[in-house]
Amino acid sequence: MDHLAAPLADPDTFVAGPPYELFARLRAQEPVAWTPEEPPHHGFWSVTRHADIVRVGRDWQTFSSARGVSLEELDDEQLVHRTSLIDTDPPRHTALRKLVAPMFGPKVVNGYETFLRGIVGRALDDALALAGLQGAFDLVEHVSSQVPVRVLCRLLDVDDDVHTRLTSWGDRLVGHTDPELADVLLGTEESEKYRLVPFRSPAALEVFEYGRSLAARRRSEPGDDLVTRLATATIDGEPLSEKDFDNYFLLLALAGQETTRQAVSLAALTLIEHPDALARLQEWPGLLDGPALDEFLRWGPPVYHMRRTATRDAVIGDVEVRAGDKIALWYPSGNRDERAIPDPVVFDLDRTGVDLLTFGKGGPHFCMGSFLARLELKVTLQELIARIDSIALAGTPERLRSNFVNGVKRLPVTLTPR
Ligand code: HEM
Repeated sequence: MDHLAAPLADPDTFVAGPPYELFARLRAQEPVAWTPEEPPHHGFWSVTRHADIVRVGRDWQTFSSARGVSLEELDDEQLVHRTSLIDTDPPRHTALRKLVAPMFGPKVVNGYETFLRGIVGRALDDALALAGLQGAFDLVEHVSSQVPVRVLCRLLDVDDDVHTRLTSWGDRLVGHTDPELADVLLGTEESEKYRLVPFRSPAALEVFEYGRSLAARRRSEPGDDLVTRLATATIDGEPLSEKDFDNYFLLLALAGQETTRQAVSLAALTLIEHPDALARLQEWPGLLDGPALDEFLRWGPPVYHMRRTATRDAVIGDVEVRAGDKIALWYPSGNRDERAIPDPVVFDLDRTGVDLLTFGKGGPHFCMGSFLARLELKVTLQELIARIDSIALAGTPERLRSNFVNGVKRLPVTLTPR
């Protein structure tokens, strides 16, 4: 039997960009669709309608994160080694999240704005100088990859020059299904050697080693940074185990840069494809202080899906799922669901009232860095728009081979400065 959702299990499907037409057909014909996978995996349910995604995300007792949030099926031994905050259910999840959540609240994050404008301004001025010299340049390398990672360096309180290593680790981890970026491709025999580390990537071992060296320093010389918080944290009087520390550090080191980098690249691509929107923002840059920013995040969502696992037999829409079944929540599809959003295939800077799914929705795992990500995207777009008259593609954008991260590897552009 042919399965309409089958291409969603194949990272090749996403090399041409998000499969929005397939998502639209699934929402209309089979909103909770069985998606077969190659053995040893067992397949999963693809959930594509907005309301179903929200309902599953909210009901963590029935749809647990504790068997992992990627589609890779993990045995108990792997879970012991690879579990982080994001793969944990309450009440443990609540205790872990509290350890660093205050550092991502709106008040703290707004305090970064001046620093952020400085980094963004420098990256853009360098990029414009390069454009003046050589014409076309890669916006991913010279802009998107420069900003979020430097903010992360500040949150970790490490020297700015660590940023190239952090970027390369991020690429190698989320690139584990992309032959250009992976050290060891997921699903190959060689990846068995790394089955106990996140993404089955040797890069994870380097991140762990780096995190531990920072933790050792911060235990003797504490500061006011993420590493100090994790290295000195206790839950019920117990410090975090080494594994808990490793996996939490890796989650922050990855989530803190990779997704926002993609958000910037995807928003730049949106501007290129909608010159009228660029003109409007040049006239009213203040629009980005309002819902227009979310329209960029709706249109270019950096995360394709998160997985849940049914803890008991349950019904989603009118489909019965069984205890143990995997469920993928396809956020880009929910963001364009005509049942929840009027004219969803129109990019509209004046759109209001959108229940955005880009950062997850409703459940305990709602993105901890959403304020920070929004501020980074807003400042980058405002500073870019203030410096250019126009922006155009100078080649074909190259996409990450992944059904997990909506990644742009290269975005060749030309700019006309103001
Ligand atoms: C545009 C950029 C970003 C996007 C699209 C994004 C998206 C997401 C999504 C979809 C989730 C899972 C939500 C769920 O399962 O319900 C998540 C969780 C998370 N994000 Fe983000 N994220 C972004 C930026 C950031 C940043 C800058 C940080 C900062 C460190 C961050 C840290 C986290 C953490 C720690 C979690 C796990 C939260 C938990 O399990 O309680 N994210 N993010």
